[in-house]
Amino acid sequence: MSDIDSILKESRVFPPPPAFAANAHVGSLDAYRAMYQRSLGDPEAFWAEQAETLQWFRKWDRVLEWKAPFARWFDGGTLNVSVNCLDRHVVTWRRNKAALIWEGEPGDVRTLTYRQLLDEVCRCANALKAMGVGKGDRVGIYLPMVPEAAVAMLACARIGATHSVVFGGFSAEALRDRMNDATAKAVITADGGYRRGSVVPLKANVDAALEGVPSVTGVLVVRRTGSAVAMRDGRDHWWHETVDAASPDCPAEPVEAEHPLFILYTSGTTGKPKGVVHTTAGYLLGSALTTRYVFDLKDDDTYWCTADIGWVTGHSYVVYGPLANGATALMYEGAPNHPQPDRFWSLIERHRVTIFYTAPTAIRAFVRWGDEWPAKHDLASLRLLGTVGEPINPEAWMWYRRVIGGDRCPIVDTWWQTETGAIMITPLPGATPTKPGSGTLPFFGVSPEVVDQKGHPAPPGAGGYLVINKPWPSMLRTVWGDPDRYVEQYWKRFPGIYFPGDGARRDEDGYFWIMGRVDDVINVAGHRLGTMEVESALVSHALVAEAAVVGRPDDLKGQALVAFVTVQAGEKPDEALRAQLKEHVVHEIGAIARPDDIRFTDALPKTRSGKIMRRLLRDIAAGKQTVGDTTTLEDYSVLARLREDEE
Ligand code: WTA
Repeated sequence: MSDIDSILKESRVFPPPPAFAANAHVGSLDAYRAMYQRSLGDPEAFWAEQAETLQWFRKWDRVLEWKAPFARWFDGGTLNVSVNCLDRHVVTWRRNKAALIWEGEPGDVRTLTYRQLLDEVCRCANALKAMGVGKGDRVGIYLPMVPEAAVAMLACARIGATHSVVFGGFSAEALRDRMNDATAKAVITADGGYRRGSVVPLKANVDAALEGVPSVTGVLVVRRTGSAVAMRDGRDHWWHETVDAASPDCPAEPVEAEHPLFILYTSGTTGKPKGVVHTTAGYLLGSALTTRYVFDLKDDDTYWCTADIGWVTGHSYVVYGPLANGATALMYEGAPNHPQPDRFWSLIERHRVTIFYTAPTAIRAFVRWGDEWPAKHDLASLRLLGTVGEPINPEAWMWYRRVIGGDRCPIVDTWWQTETGAIMITPLPGATPTKPGSGTLPFFGVSPEVVDQKGHPAPPGAGGYLVINKPWPSMLRTVWGDPDRYVEQYWKRFPGIYFPGDGARRDEDGYFWIMGRVDDVINVAGHRLGTMEVESALVSHALVAEAAVVGRPDDLKGQALVAFVTVQAGEKPDEALRAQLKEHVVHEIGAIARPDDIRFTDALPKTRSGKIMRRLLRDIAAGKQTVGDTTTLEDYSVLARLREDEE
């Protein structure tokens, strides 16, 4: 693959508002630079100093052991994440401070103070213990965005169990594969969840999934919707019976710094989902420190990150980062356009939200829905905006700043990944002048670079590969059960250096501009989808012979999914099959992977070595190449041969 062309030109600069800077944790670019230099000059001293902000049962013996690419941070130390998120606040004035303010899609509101949240976490932890779950066991969490989701995660952490949250929009099959890969012992779910007014049948999906998961012996079920569900004797337990009846006292298990806190599955380029493993101390430190500095978090903030807990953003910036800082976090269950497209703005107005963190895909939808929706609400409580998940196009950034931020709020465009655990490239809102579309500068202790194909530094302005050349505490430690894949996936492209898989360029000011994935993983509505997973789902249909999936630029979702499909010999593809295949993918993976377009073809274009020519397919999908009738059968093999001659 050649280096990446850089086409975006953007010259607007927005310095931090002086009043914001005056009260910020980091109030000037000089202050940022001084701390950044120190963090890279002697990383171990820097991280040791920062680790003092956590509560430990036993302090570490050694800050970092780096046997590339395997890191151990704070070895010898023991701690517990739930103690850091709860117990240490409960002994201060924060005991009666709201930890979570939650609003359900139907409009019900619940507030849990730090004291109440700790009690609930302890009860849940005791209920899990009674189900035979203990330190080192894996627990699946398949819940809607209800407070019990945060409680369940913290309860696992409290007893040293490793959680694996599976997004509630994923299908039974996706859940089954993940639970098997993790050999989970228990699953925590709900009778259902609300989404755009209808009920998602989570428990029914769990029942179907568990037919093929022998390791799971217990299921804990939250009653959310009141829908009728089947409860299996001996395996299934109602939360409102077992958790409510359990004791609110549960001593926290001291775990080693490197004890796995969670596994989070993310799509890879091969069909099998990758279980990204995060451990305890380094992850907690990374999520806590970034939350404090990037969001300039203060005790009187009402902070709202709109991510679902099924994604890493929900882990780091709904649950662990905010709670570790003793913050008040808002959590919302449902869709942004239910009952109307102003639901988010209504939430901000009613709960006086001060910090708002969402995804570019959501912002593009807001733009499309129209300015009249935010205009109905008083958004003056907001003081800071953030984005994450994909590159934000400058015009969407400008709209966000003007319409939501009232031209007053700084915007932090935060680049990071499931694998990095915490924000890596980002402005600090009181310090960094921002440019629309740029993630700007690295966070403390993070050492990114843009390199060419050979790993040499790319000149300013030139597109290349983003790499990170020093280990950091919240980095992933391995791929669950597959250390070879960890090495292969992240450390082989540029030996010994972390390759996130993104393209980027760095401008004259040293600002980073992320250009998206360089491989063929597709980012749909802020979610990374491996093409292989979607292809495997298509091929699992009896009439499909072969499939290749690529992304096509889409104004709303970032990328739309286009599937090129060849059918079994003798079969005639038609509209009915097209509709059937879309539903089939939804069934296999979930609605998020529904192909926007299915194009039937005689044959897929392939290289001589048999690799599908995705680049050609991407061009065709984007309309840059066409061949004849695109509604029925197409033959790209001629085009492929022509293209091969060019190369
Ligand atoms: C993309 C989400 C540009 C990027 C936290 C990355 C971004 C992938 C940004 C990770 C951003 C995330 N600007 N691109 N601010 N944030 N990305 O694992 O391609 O779901 O590698 O983690 O999203 O997606 P993931």
